[in-house]
Amino acid sequence: MKKKESSRCVGFMGRETLKKIKIILAIWFLFSVMPAVYSPVAVAQEKPETQLYLVSLGTGDPDNITLRALNTIQKSSVIFCMDRVAVQFPGLLDGKEIHRGTLSVHKAFMRSDGDRREGLEEVKEISRIIRKSVGEGKTVSILDYGDPTIYGPNMWFMEVFEDLNPEIVPGVSSFNVANAALKKGVTWGEKTRSVILNNGTDVEQLAAARAAMVFFTMREDVPGIVGKLKGHYPSETPVAVVSNAGFRDKERIIQGTLATIEEKIKGEKLSLYLFYVGDFLTKRYGIDAEKEPSGRLKEFKCGK
Ligand SMILES: C[S@@+](CC[C@H](N)C(=O)[O-])C[C@H]1O[C@@H](n2cnc3c(N)ncnc32)[C@H](O)[C@@H]1O
Repeated sequence: MKKKESSRCVGFMGRETLKKIKIILAIWFLFSVMPAVYSPVAVAQEKPETQLYLVSLGTGDPDNITLRALNTIQKSSVIFCMDRVAVQFPGLLDGKEIHRGTLSVHKAFMRSDGDRREGLEEVKEISRIIRKSVGEGKTVSILDYGDPTIYGPNMWFMEVFEDLNPEIVPGVSSFNVANAALKKGVTWGEKTRSVILNNGTDVEQLAAARAAMVFFTMREDVPGIVGKLKGHYPSETPVAVVSNAGFRDKERIIQGTLATIEEKIKGEKLSLYLFYVGDFLTKRYGIDAEKEPSGRLKEFKCGK
């Protein structure tokens, strides 16, 4: 009888202990095992090795390409690109399977001037080529110019082929080469320390802050931009046009103000250019090596 009681007691103790162990195990699993399984490292390890790249060729002359881009193109056997790449980089594409780059998917799904049915047909054909090549163990590169993430027409590849773990090989944007051509600190304005990259579509809302702006001009020309800015910036605000940035023998800079720039570009053949507005275009440092600086630097206050 005593024995029975004690065994009942042990059984009861066992259930309680088991319950406690289960709780401890659940807490341990929640805080130790789950984070390890779902940590970025674990997730990254599960992703397939990259065989698909969006590669920047840089902007302007061929020496603006990066070493990483060259190495990636060299190890690729399938390439999507514009015809002119073979001329700009002689020998680089020799022996590779070349497919012509296309804008139709971007036009159809990001802009309003494309046919979606046509765009989808293009996606299917490109997808067939890429998935077959990757399945055969080949590396595929899509070649682009500038920074592919800035108004680049190939960003859709990153979404459609997300399962292949594609990578972007970054490159020098026209924004970078034109900044260098201007020799100005684009974020060192007098009234603002910010710069807005713009394509002319939403200027009116942004111009009220009189921030420095850089216009990519595939949708808007100089008179159109000036017209949109005039109501917000004083007419003496400095502006600049940088055309063919990064091409040593045809790069051109035209400077003026909102009031004068239209007159200054008359007779110029502008096709590939950026338009800049902002007081960062003036002399900003006021350093005279011969003179002692007078007073302290004025503290920067936004909009003052
Ligand atoms: C579709 S966007 C592509 C921009 C590109 N992703 C980049 O980062 O330079 C094309 C626009 O970029 C600008 N652009 C491209 N190359 C240029 C260059 N060499 N000089 C000046 N502007 C350029 C022009 O405003 C052109 O209309």
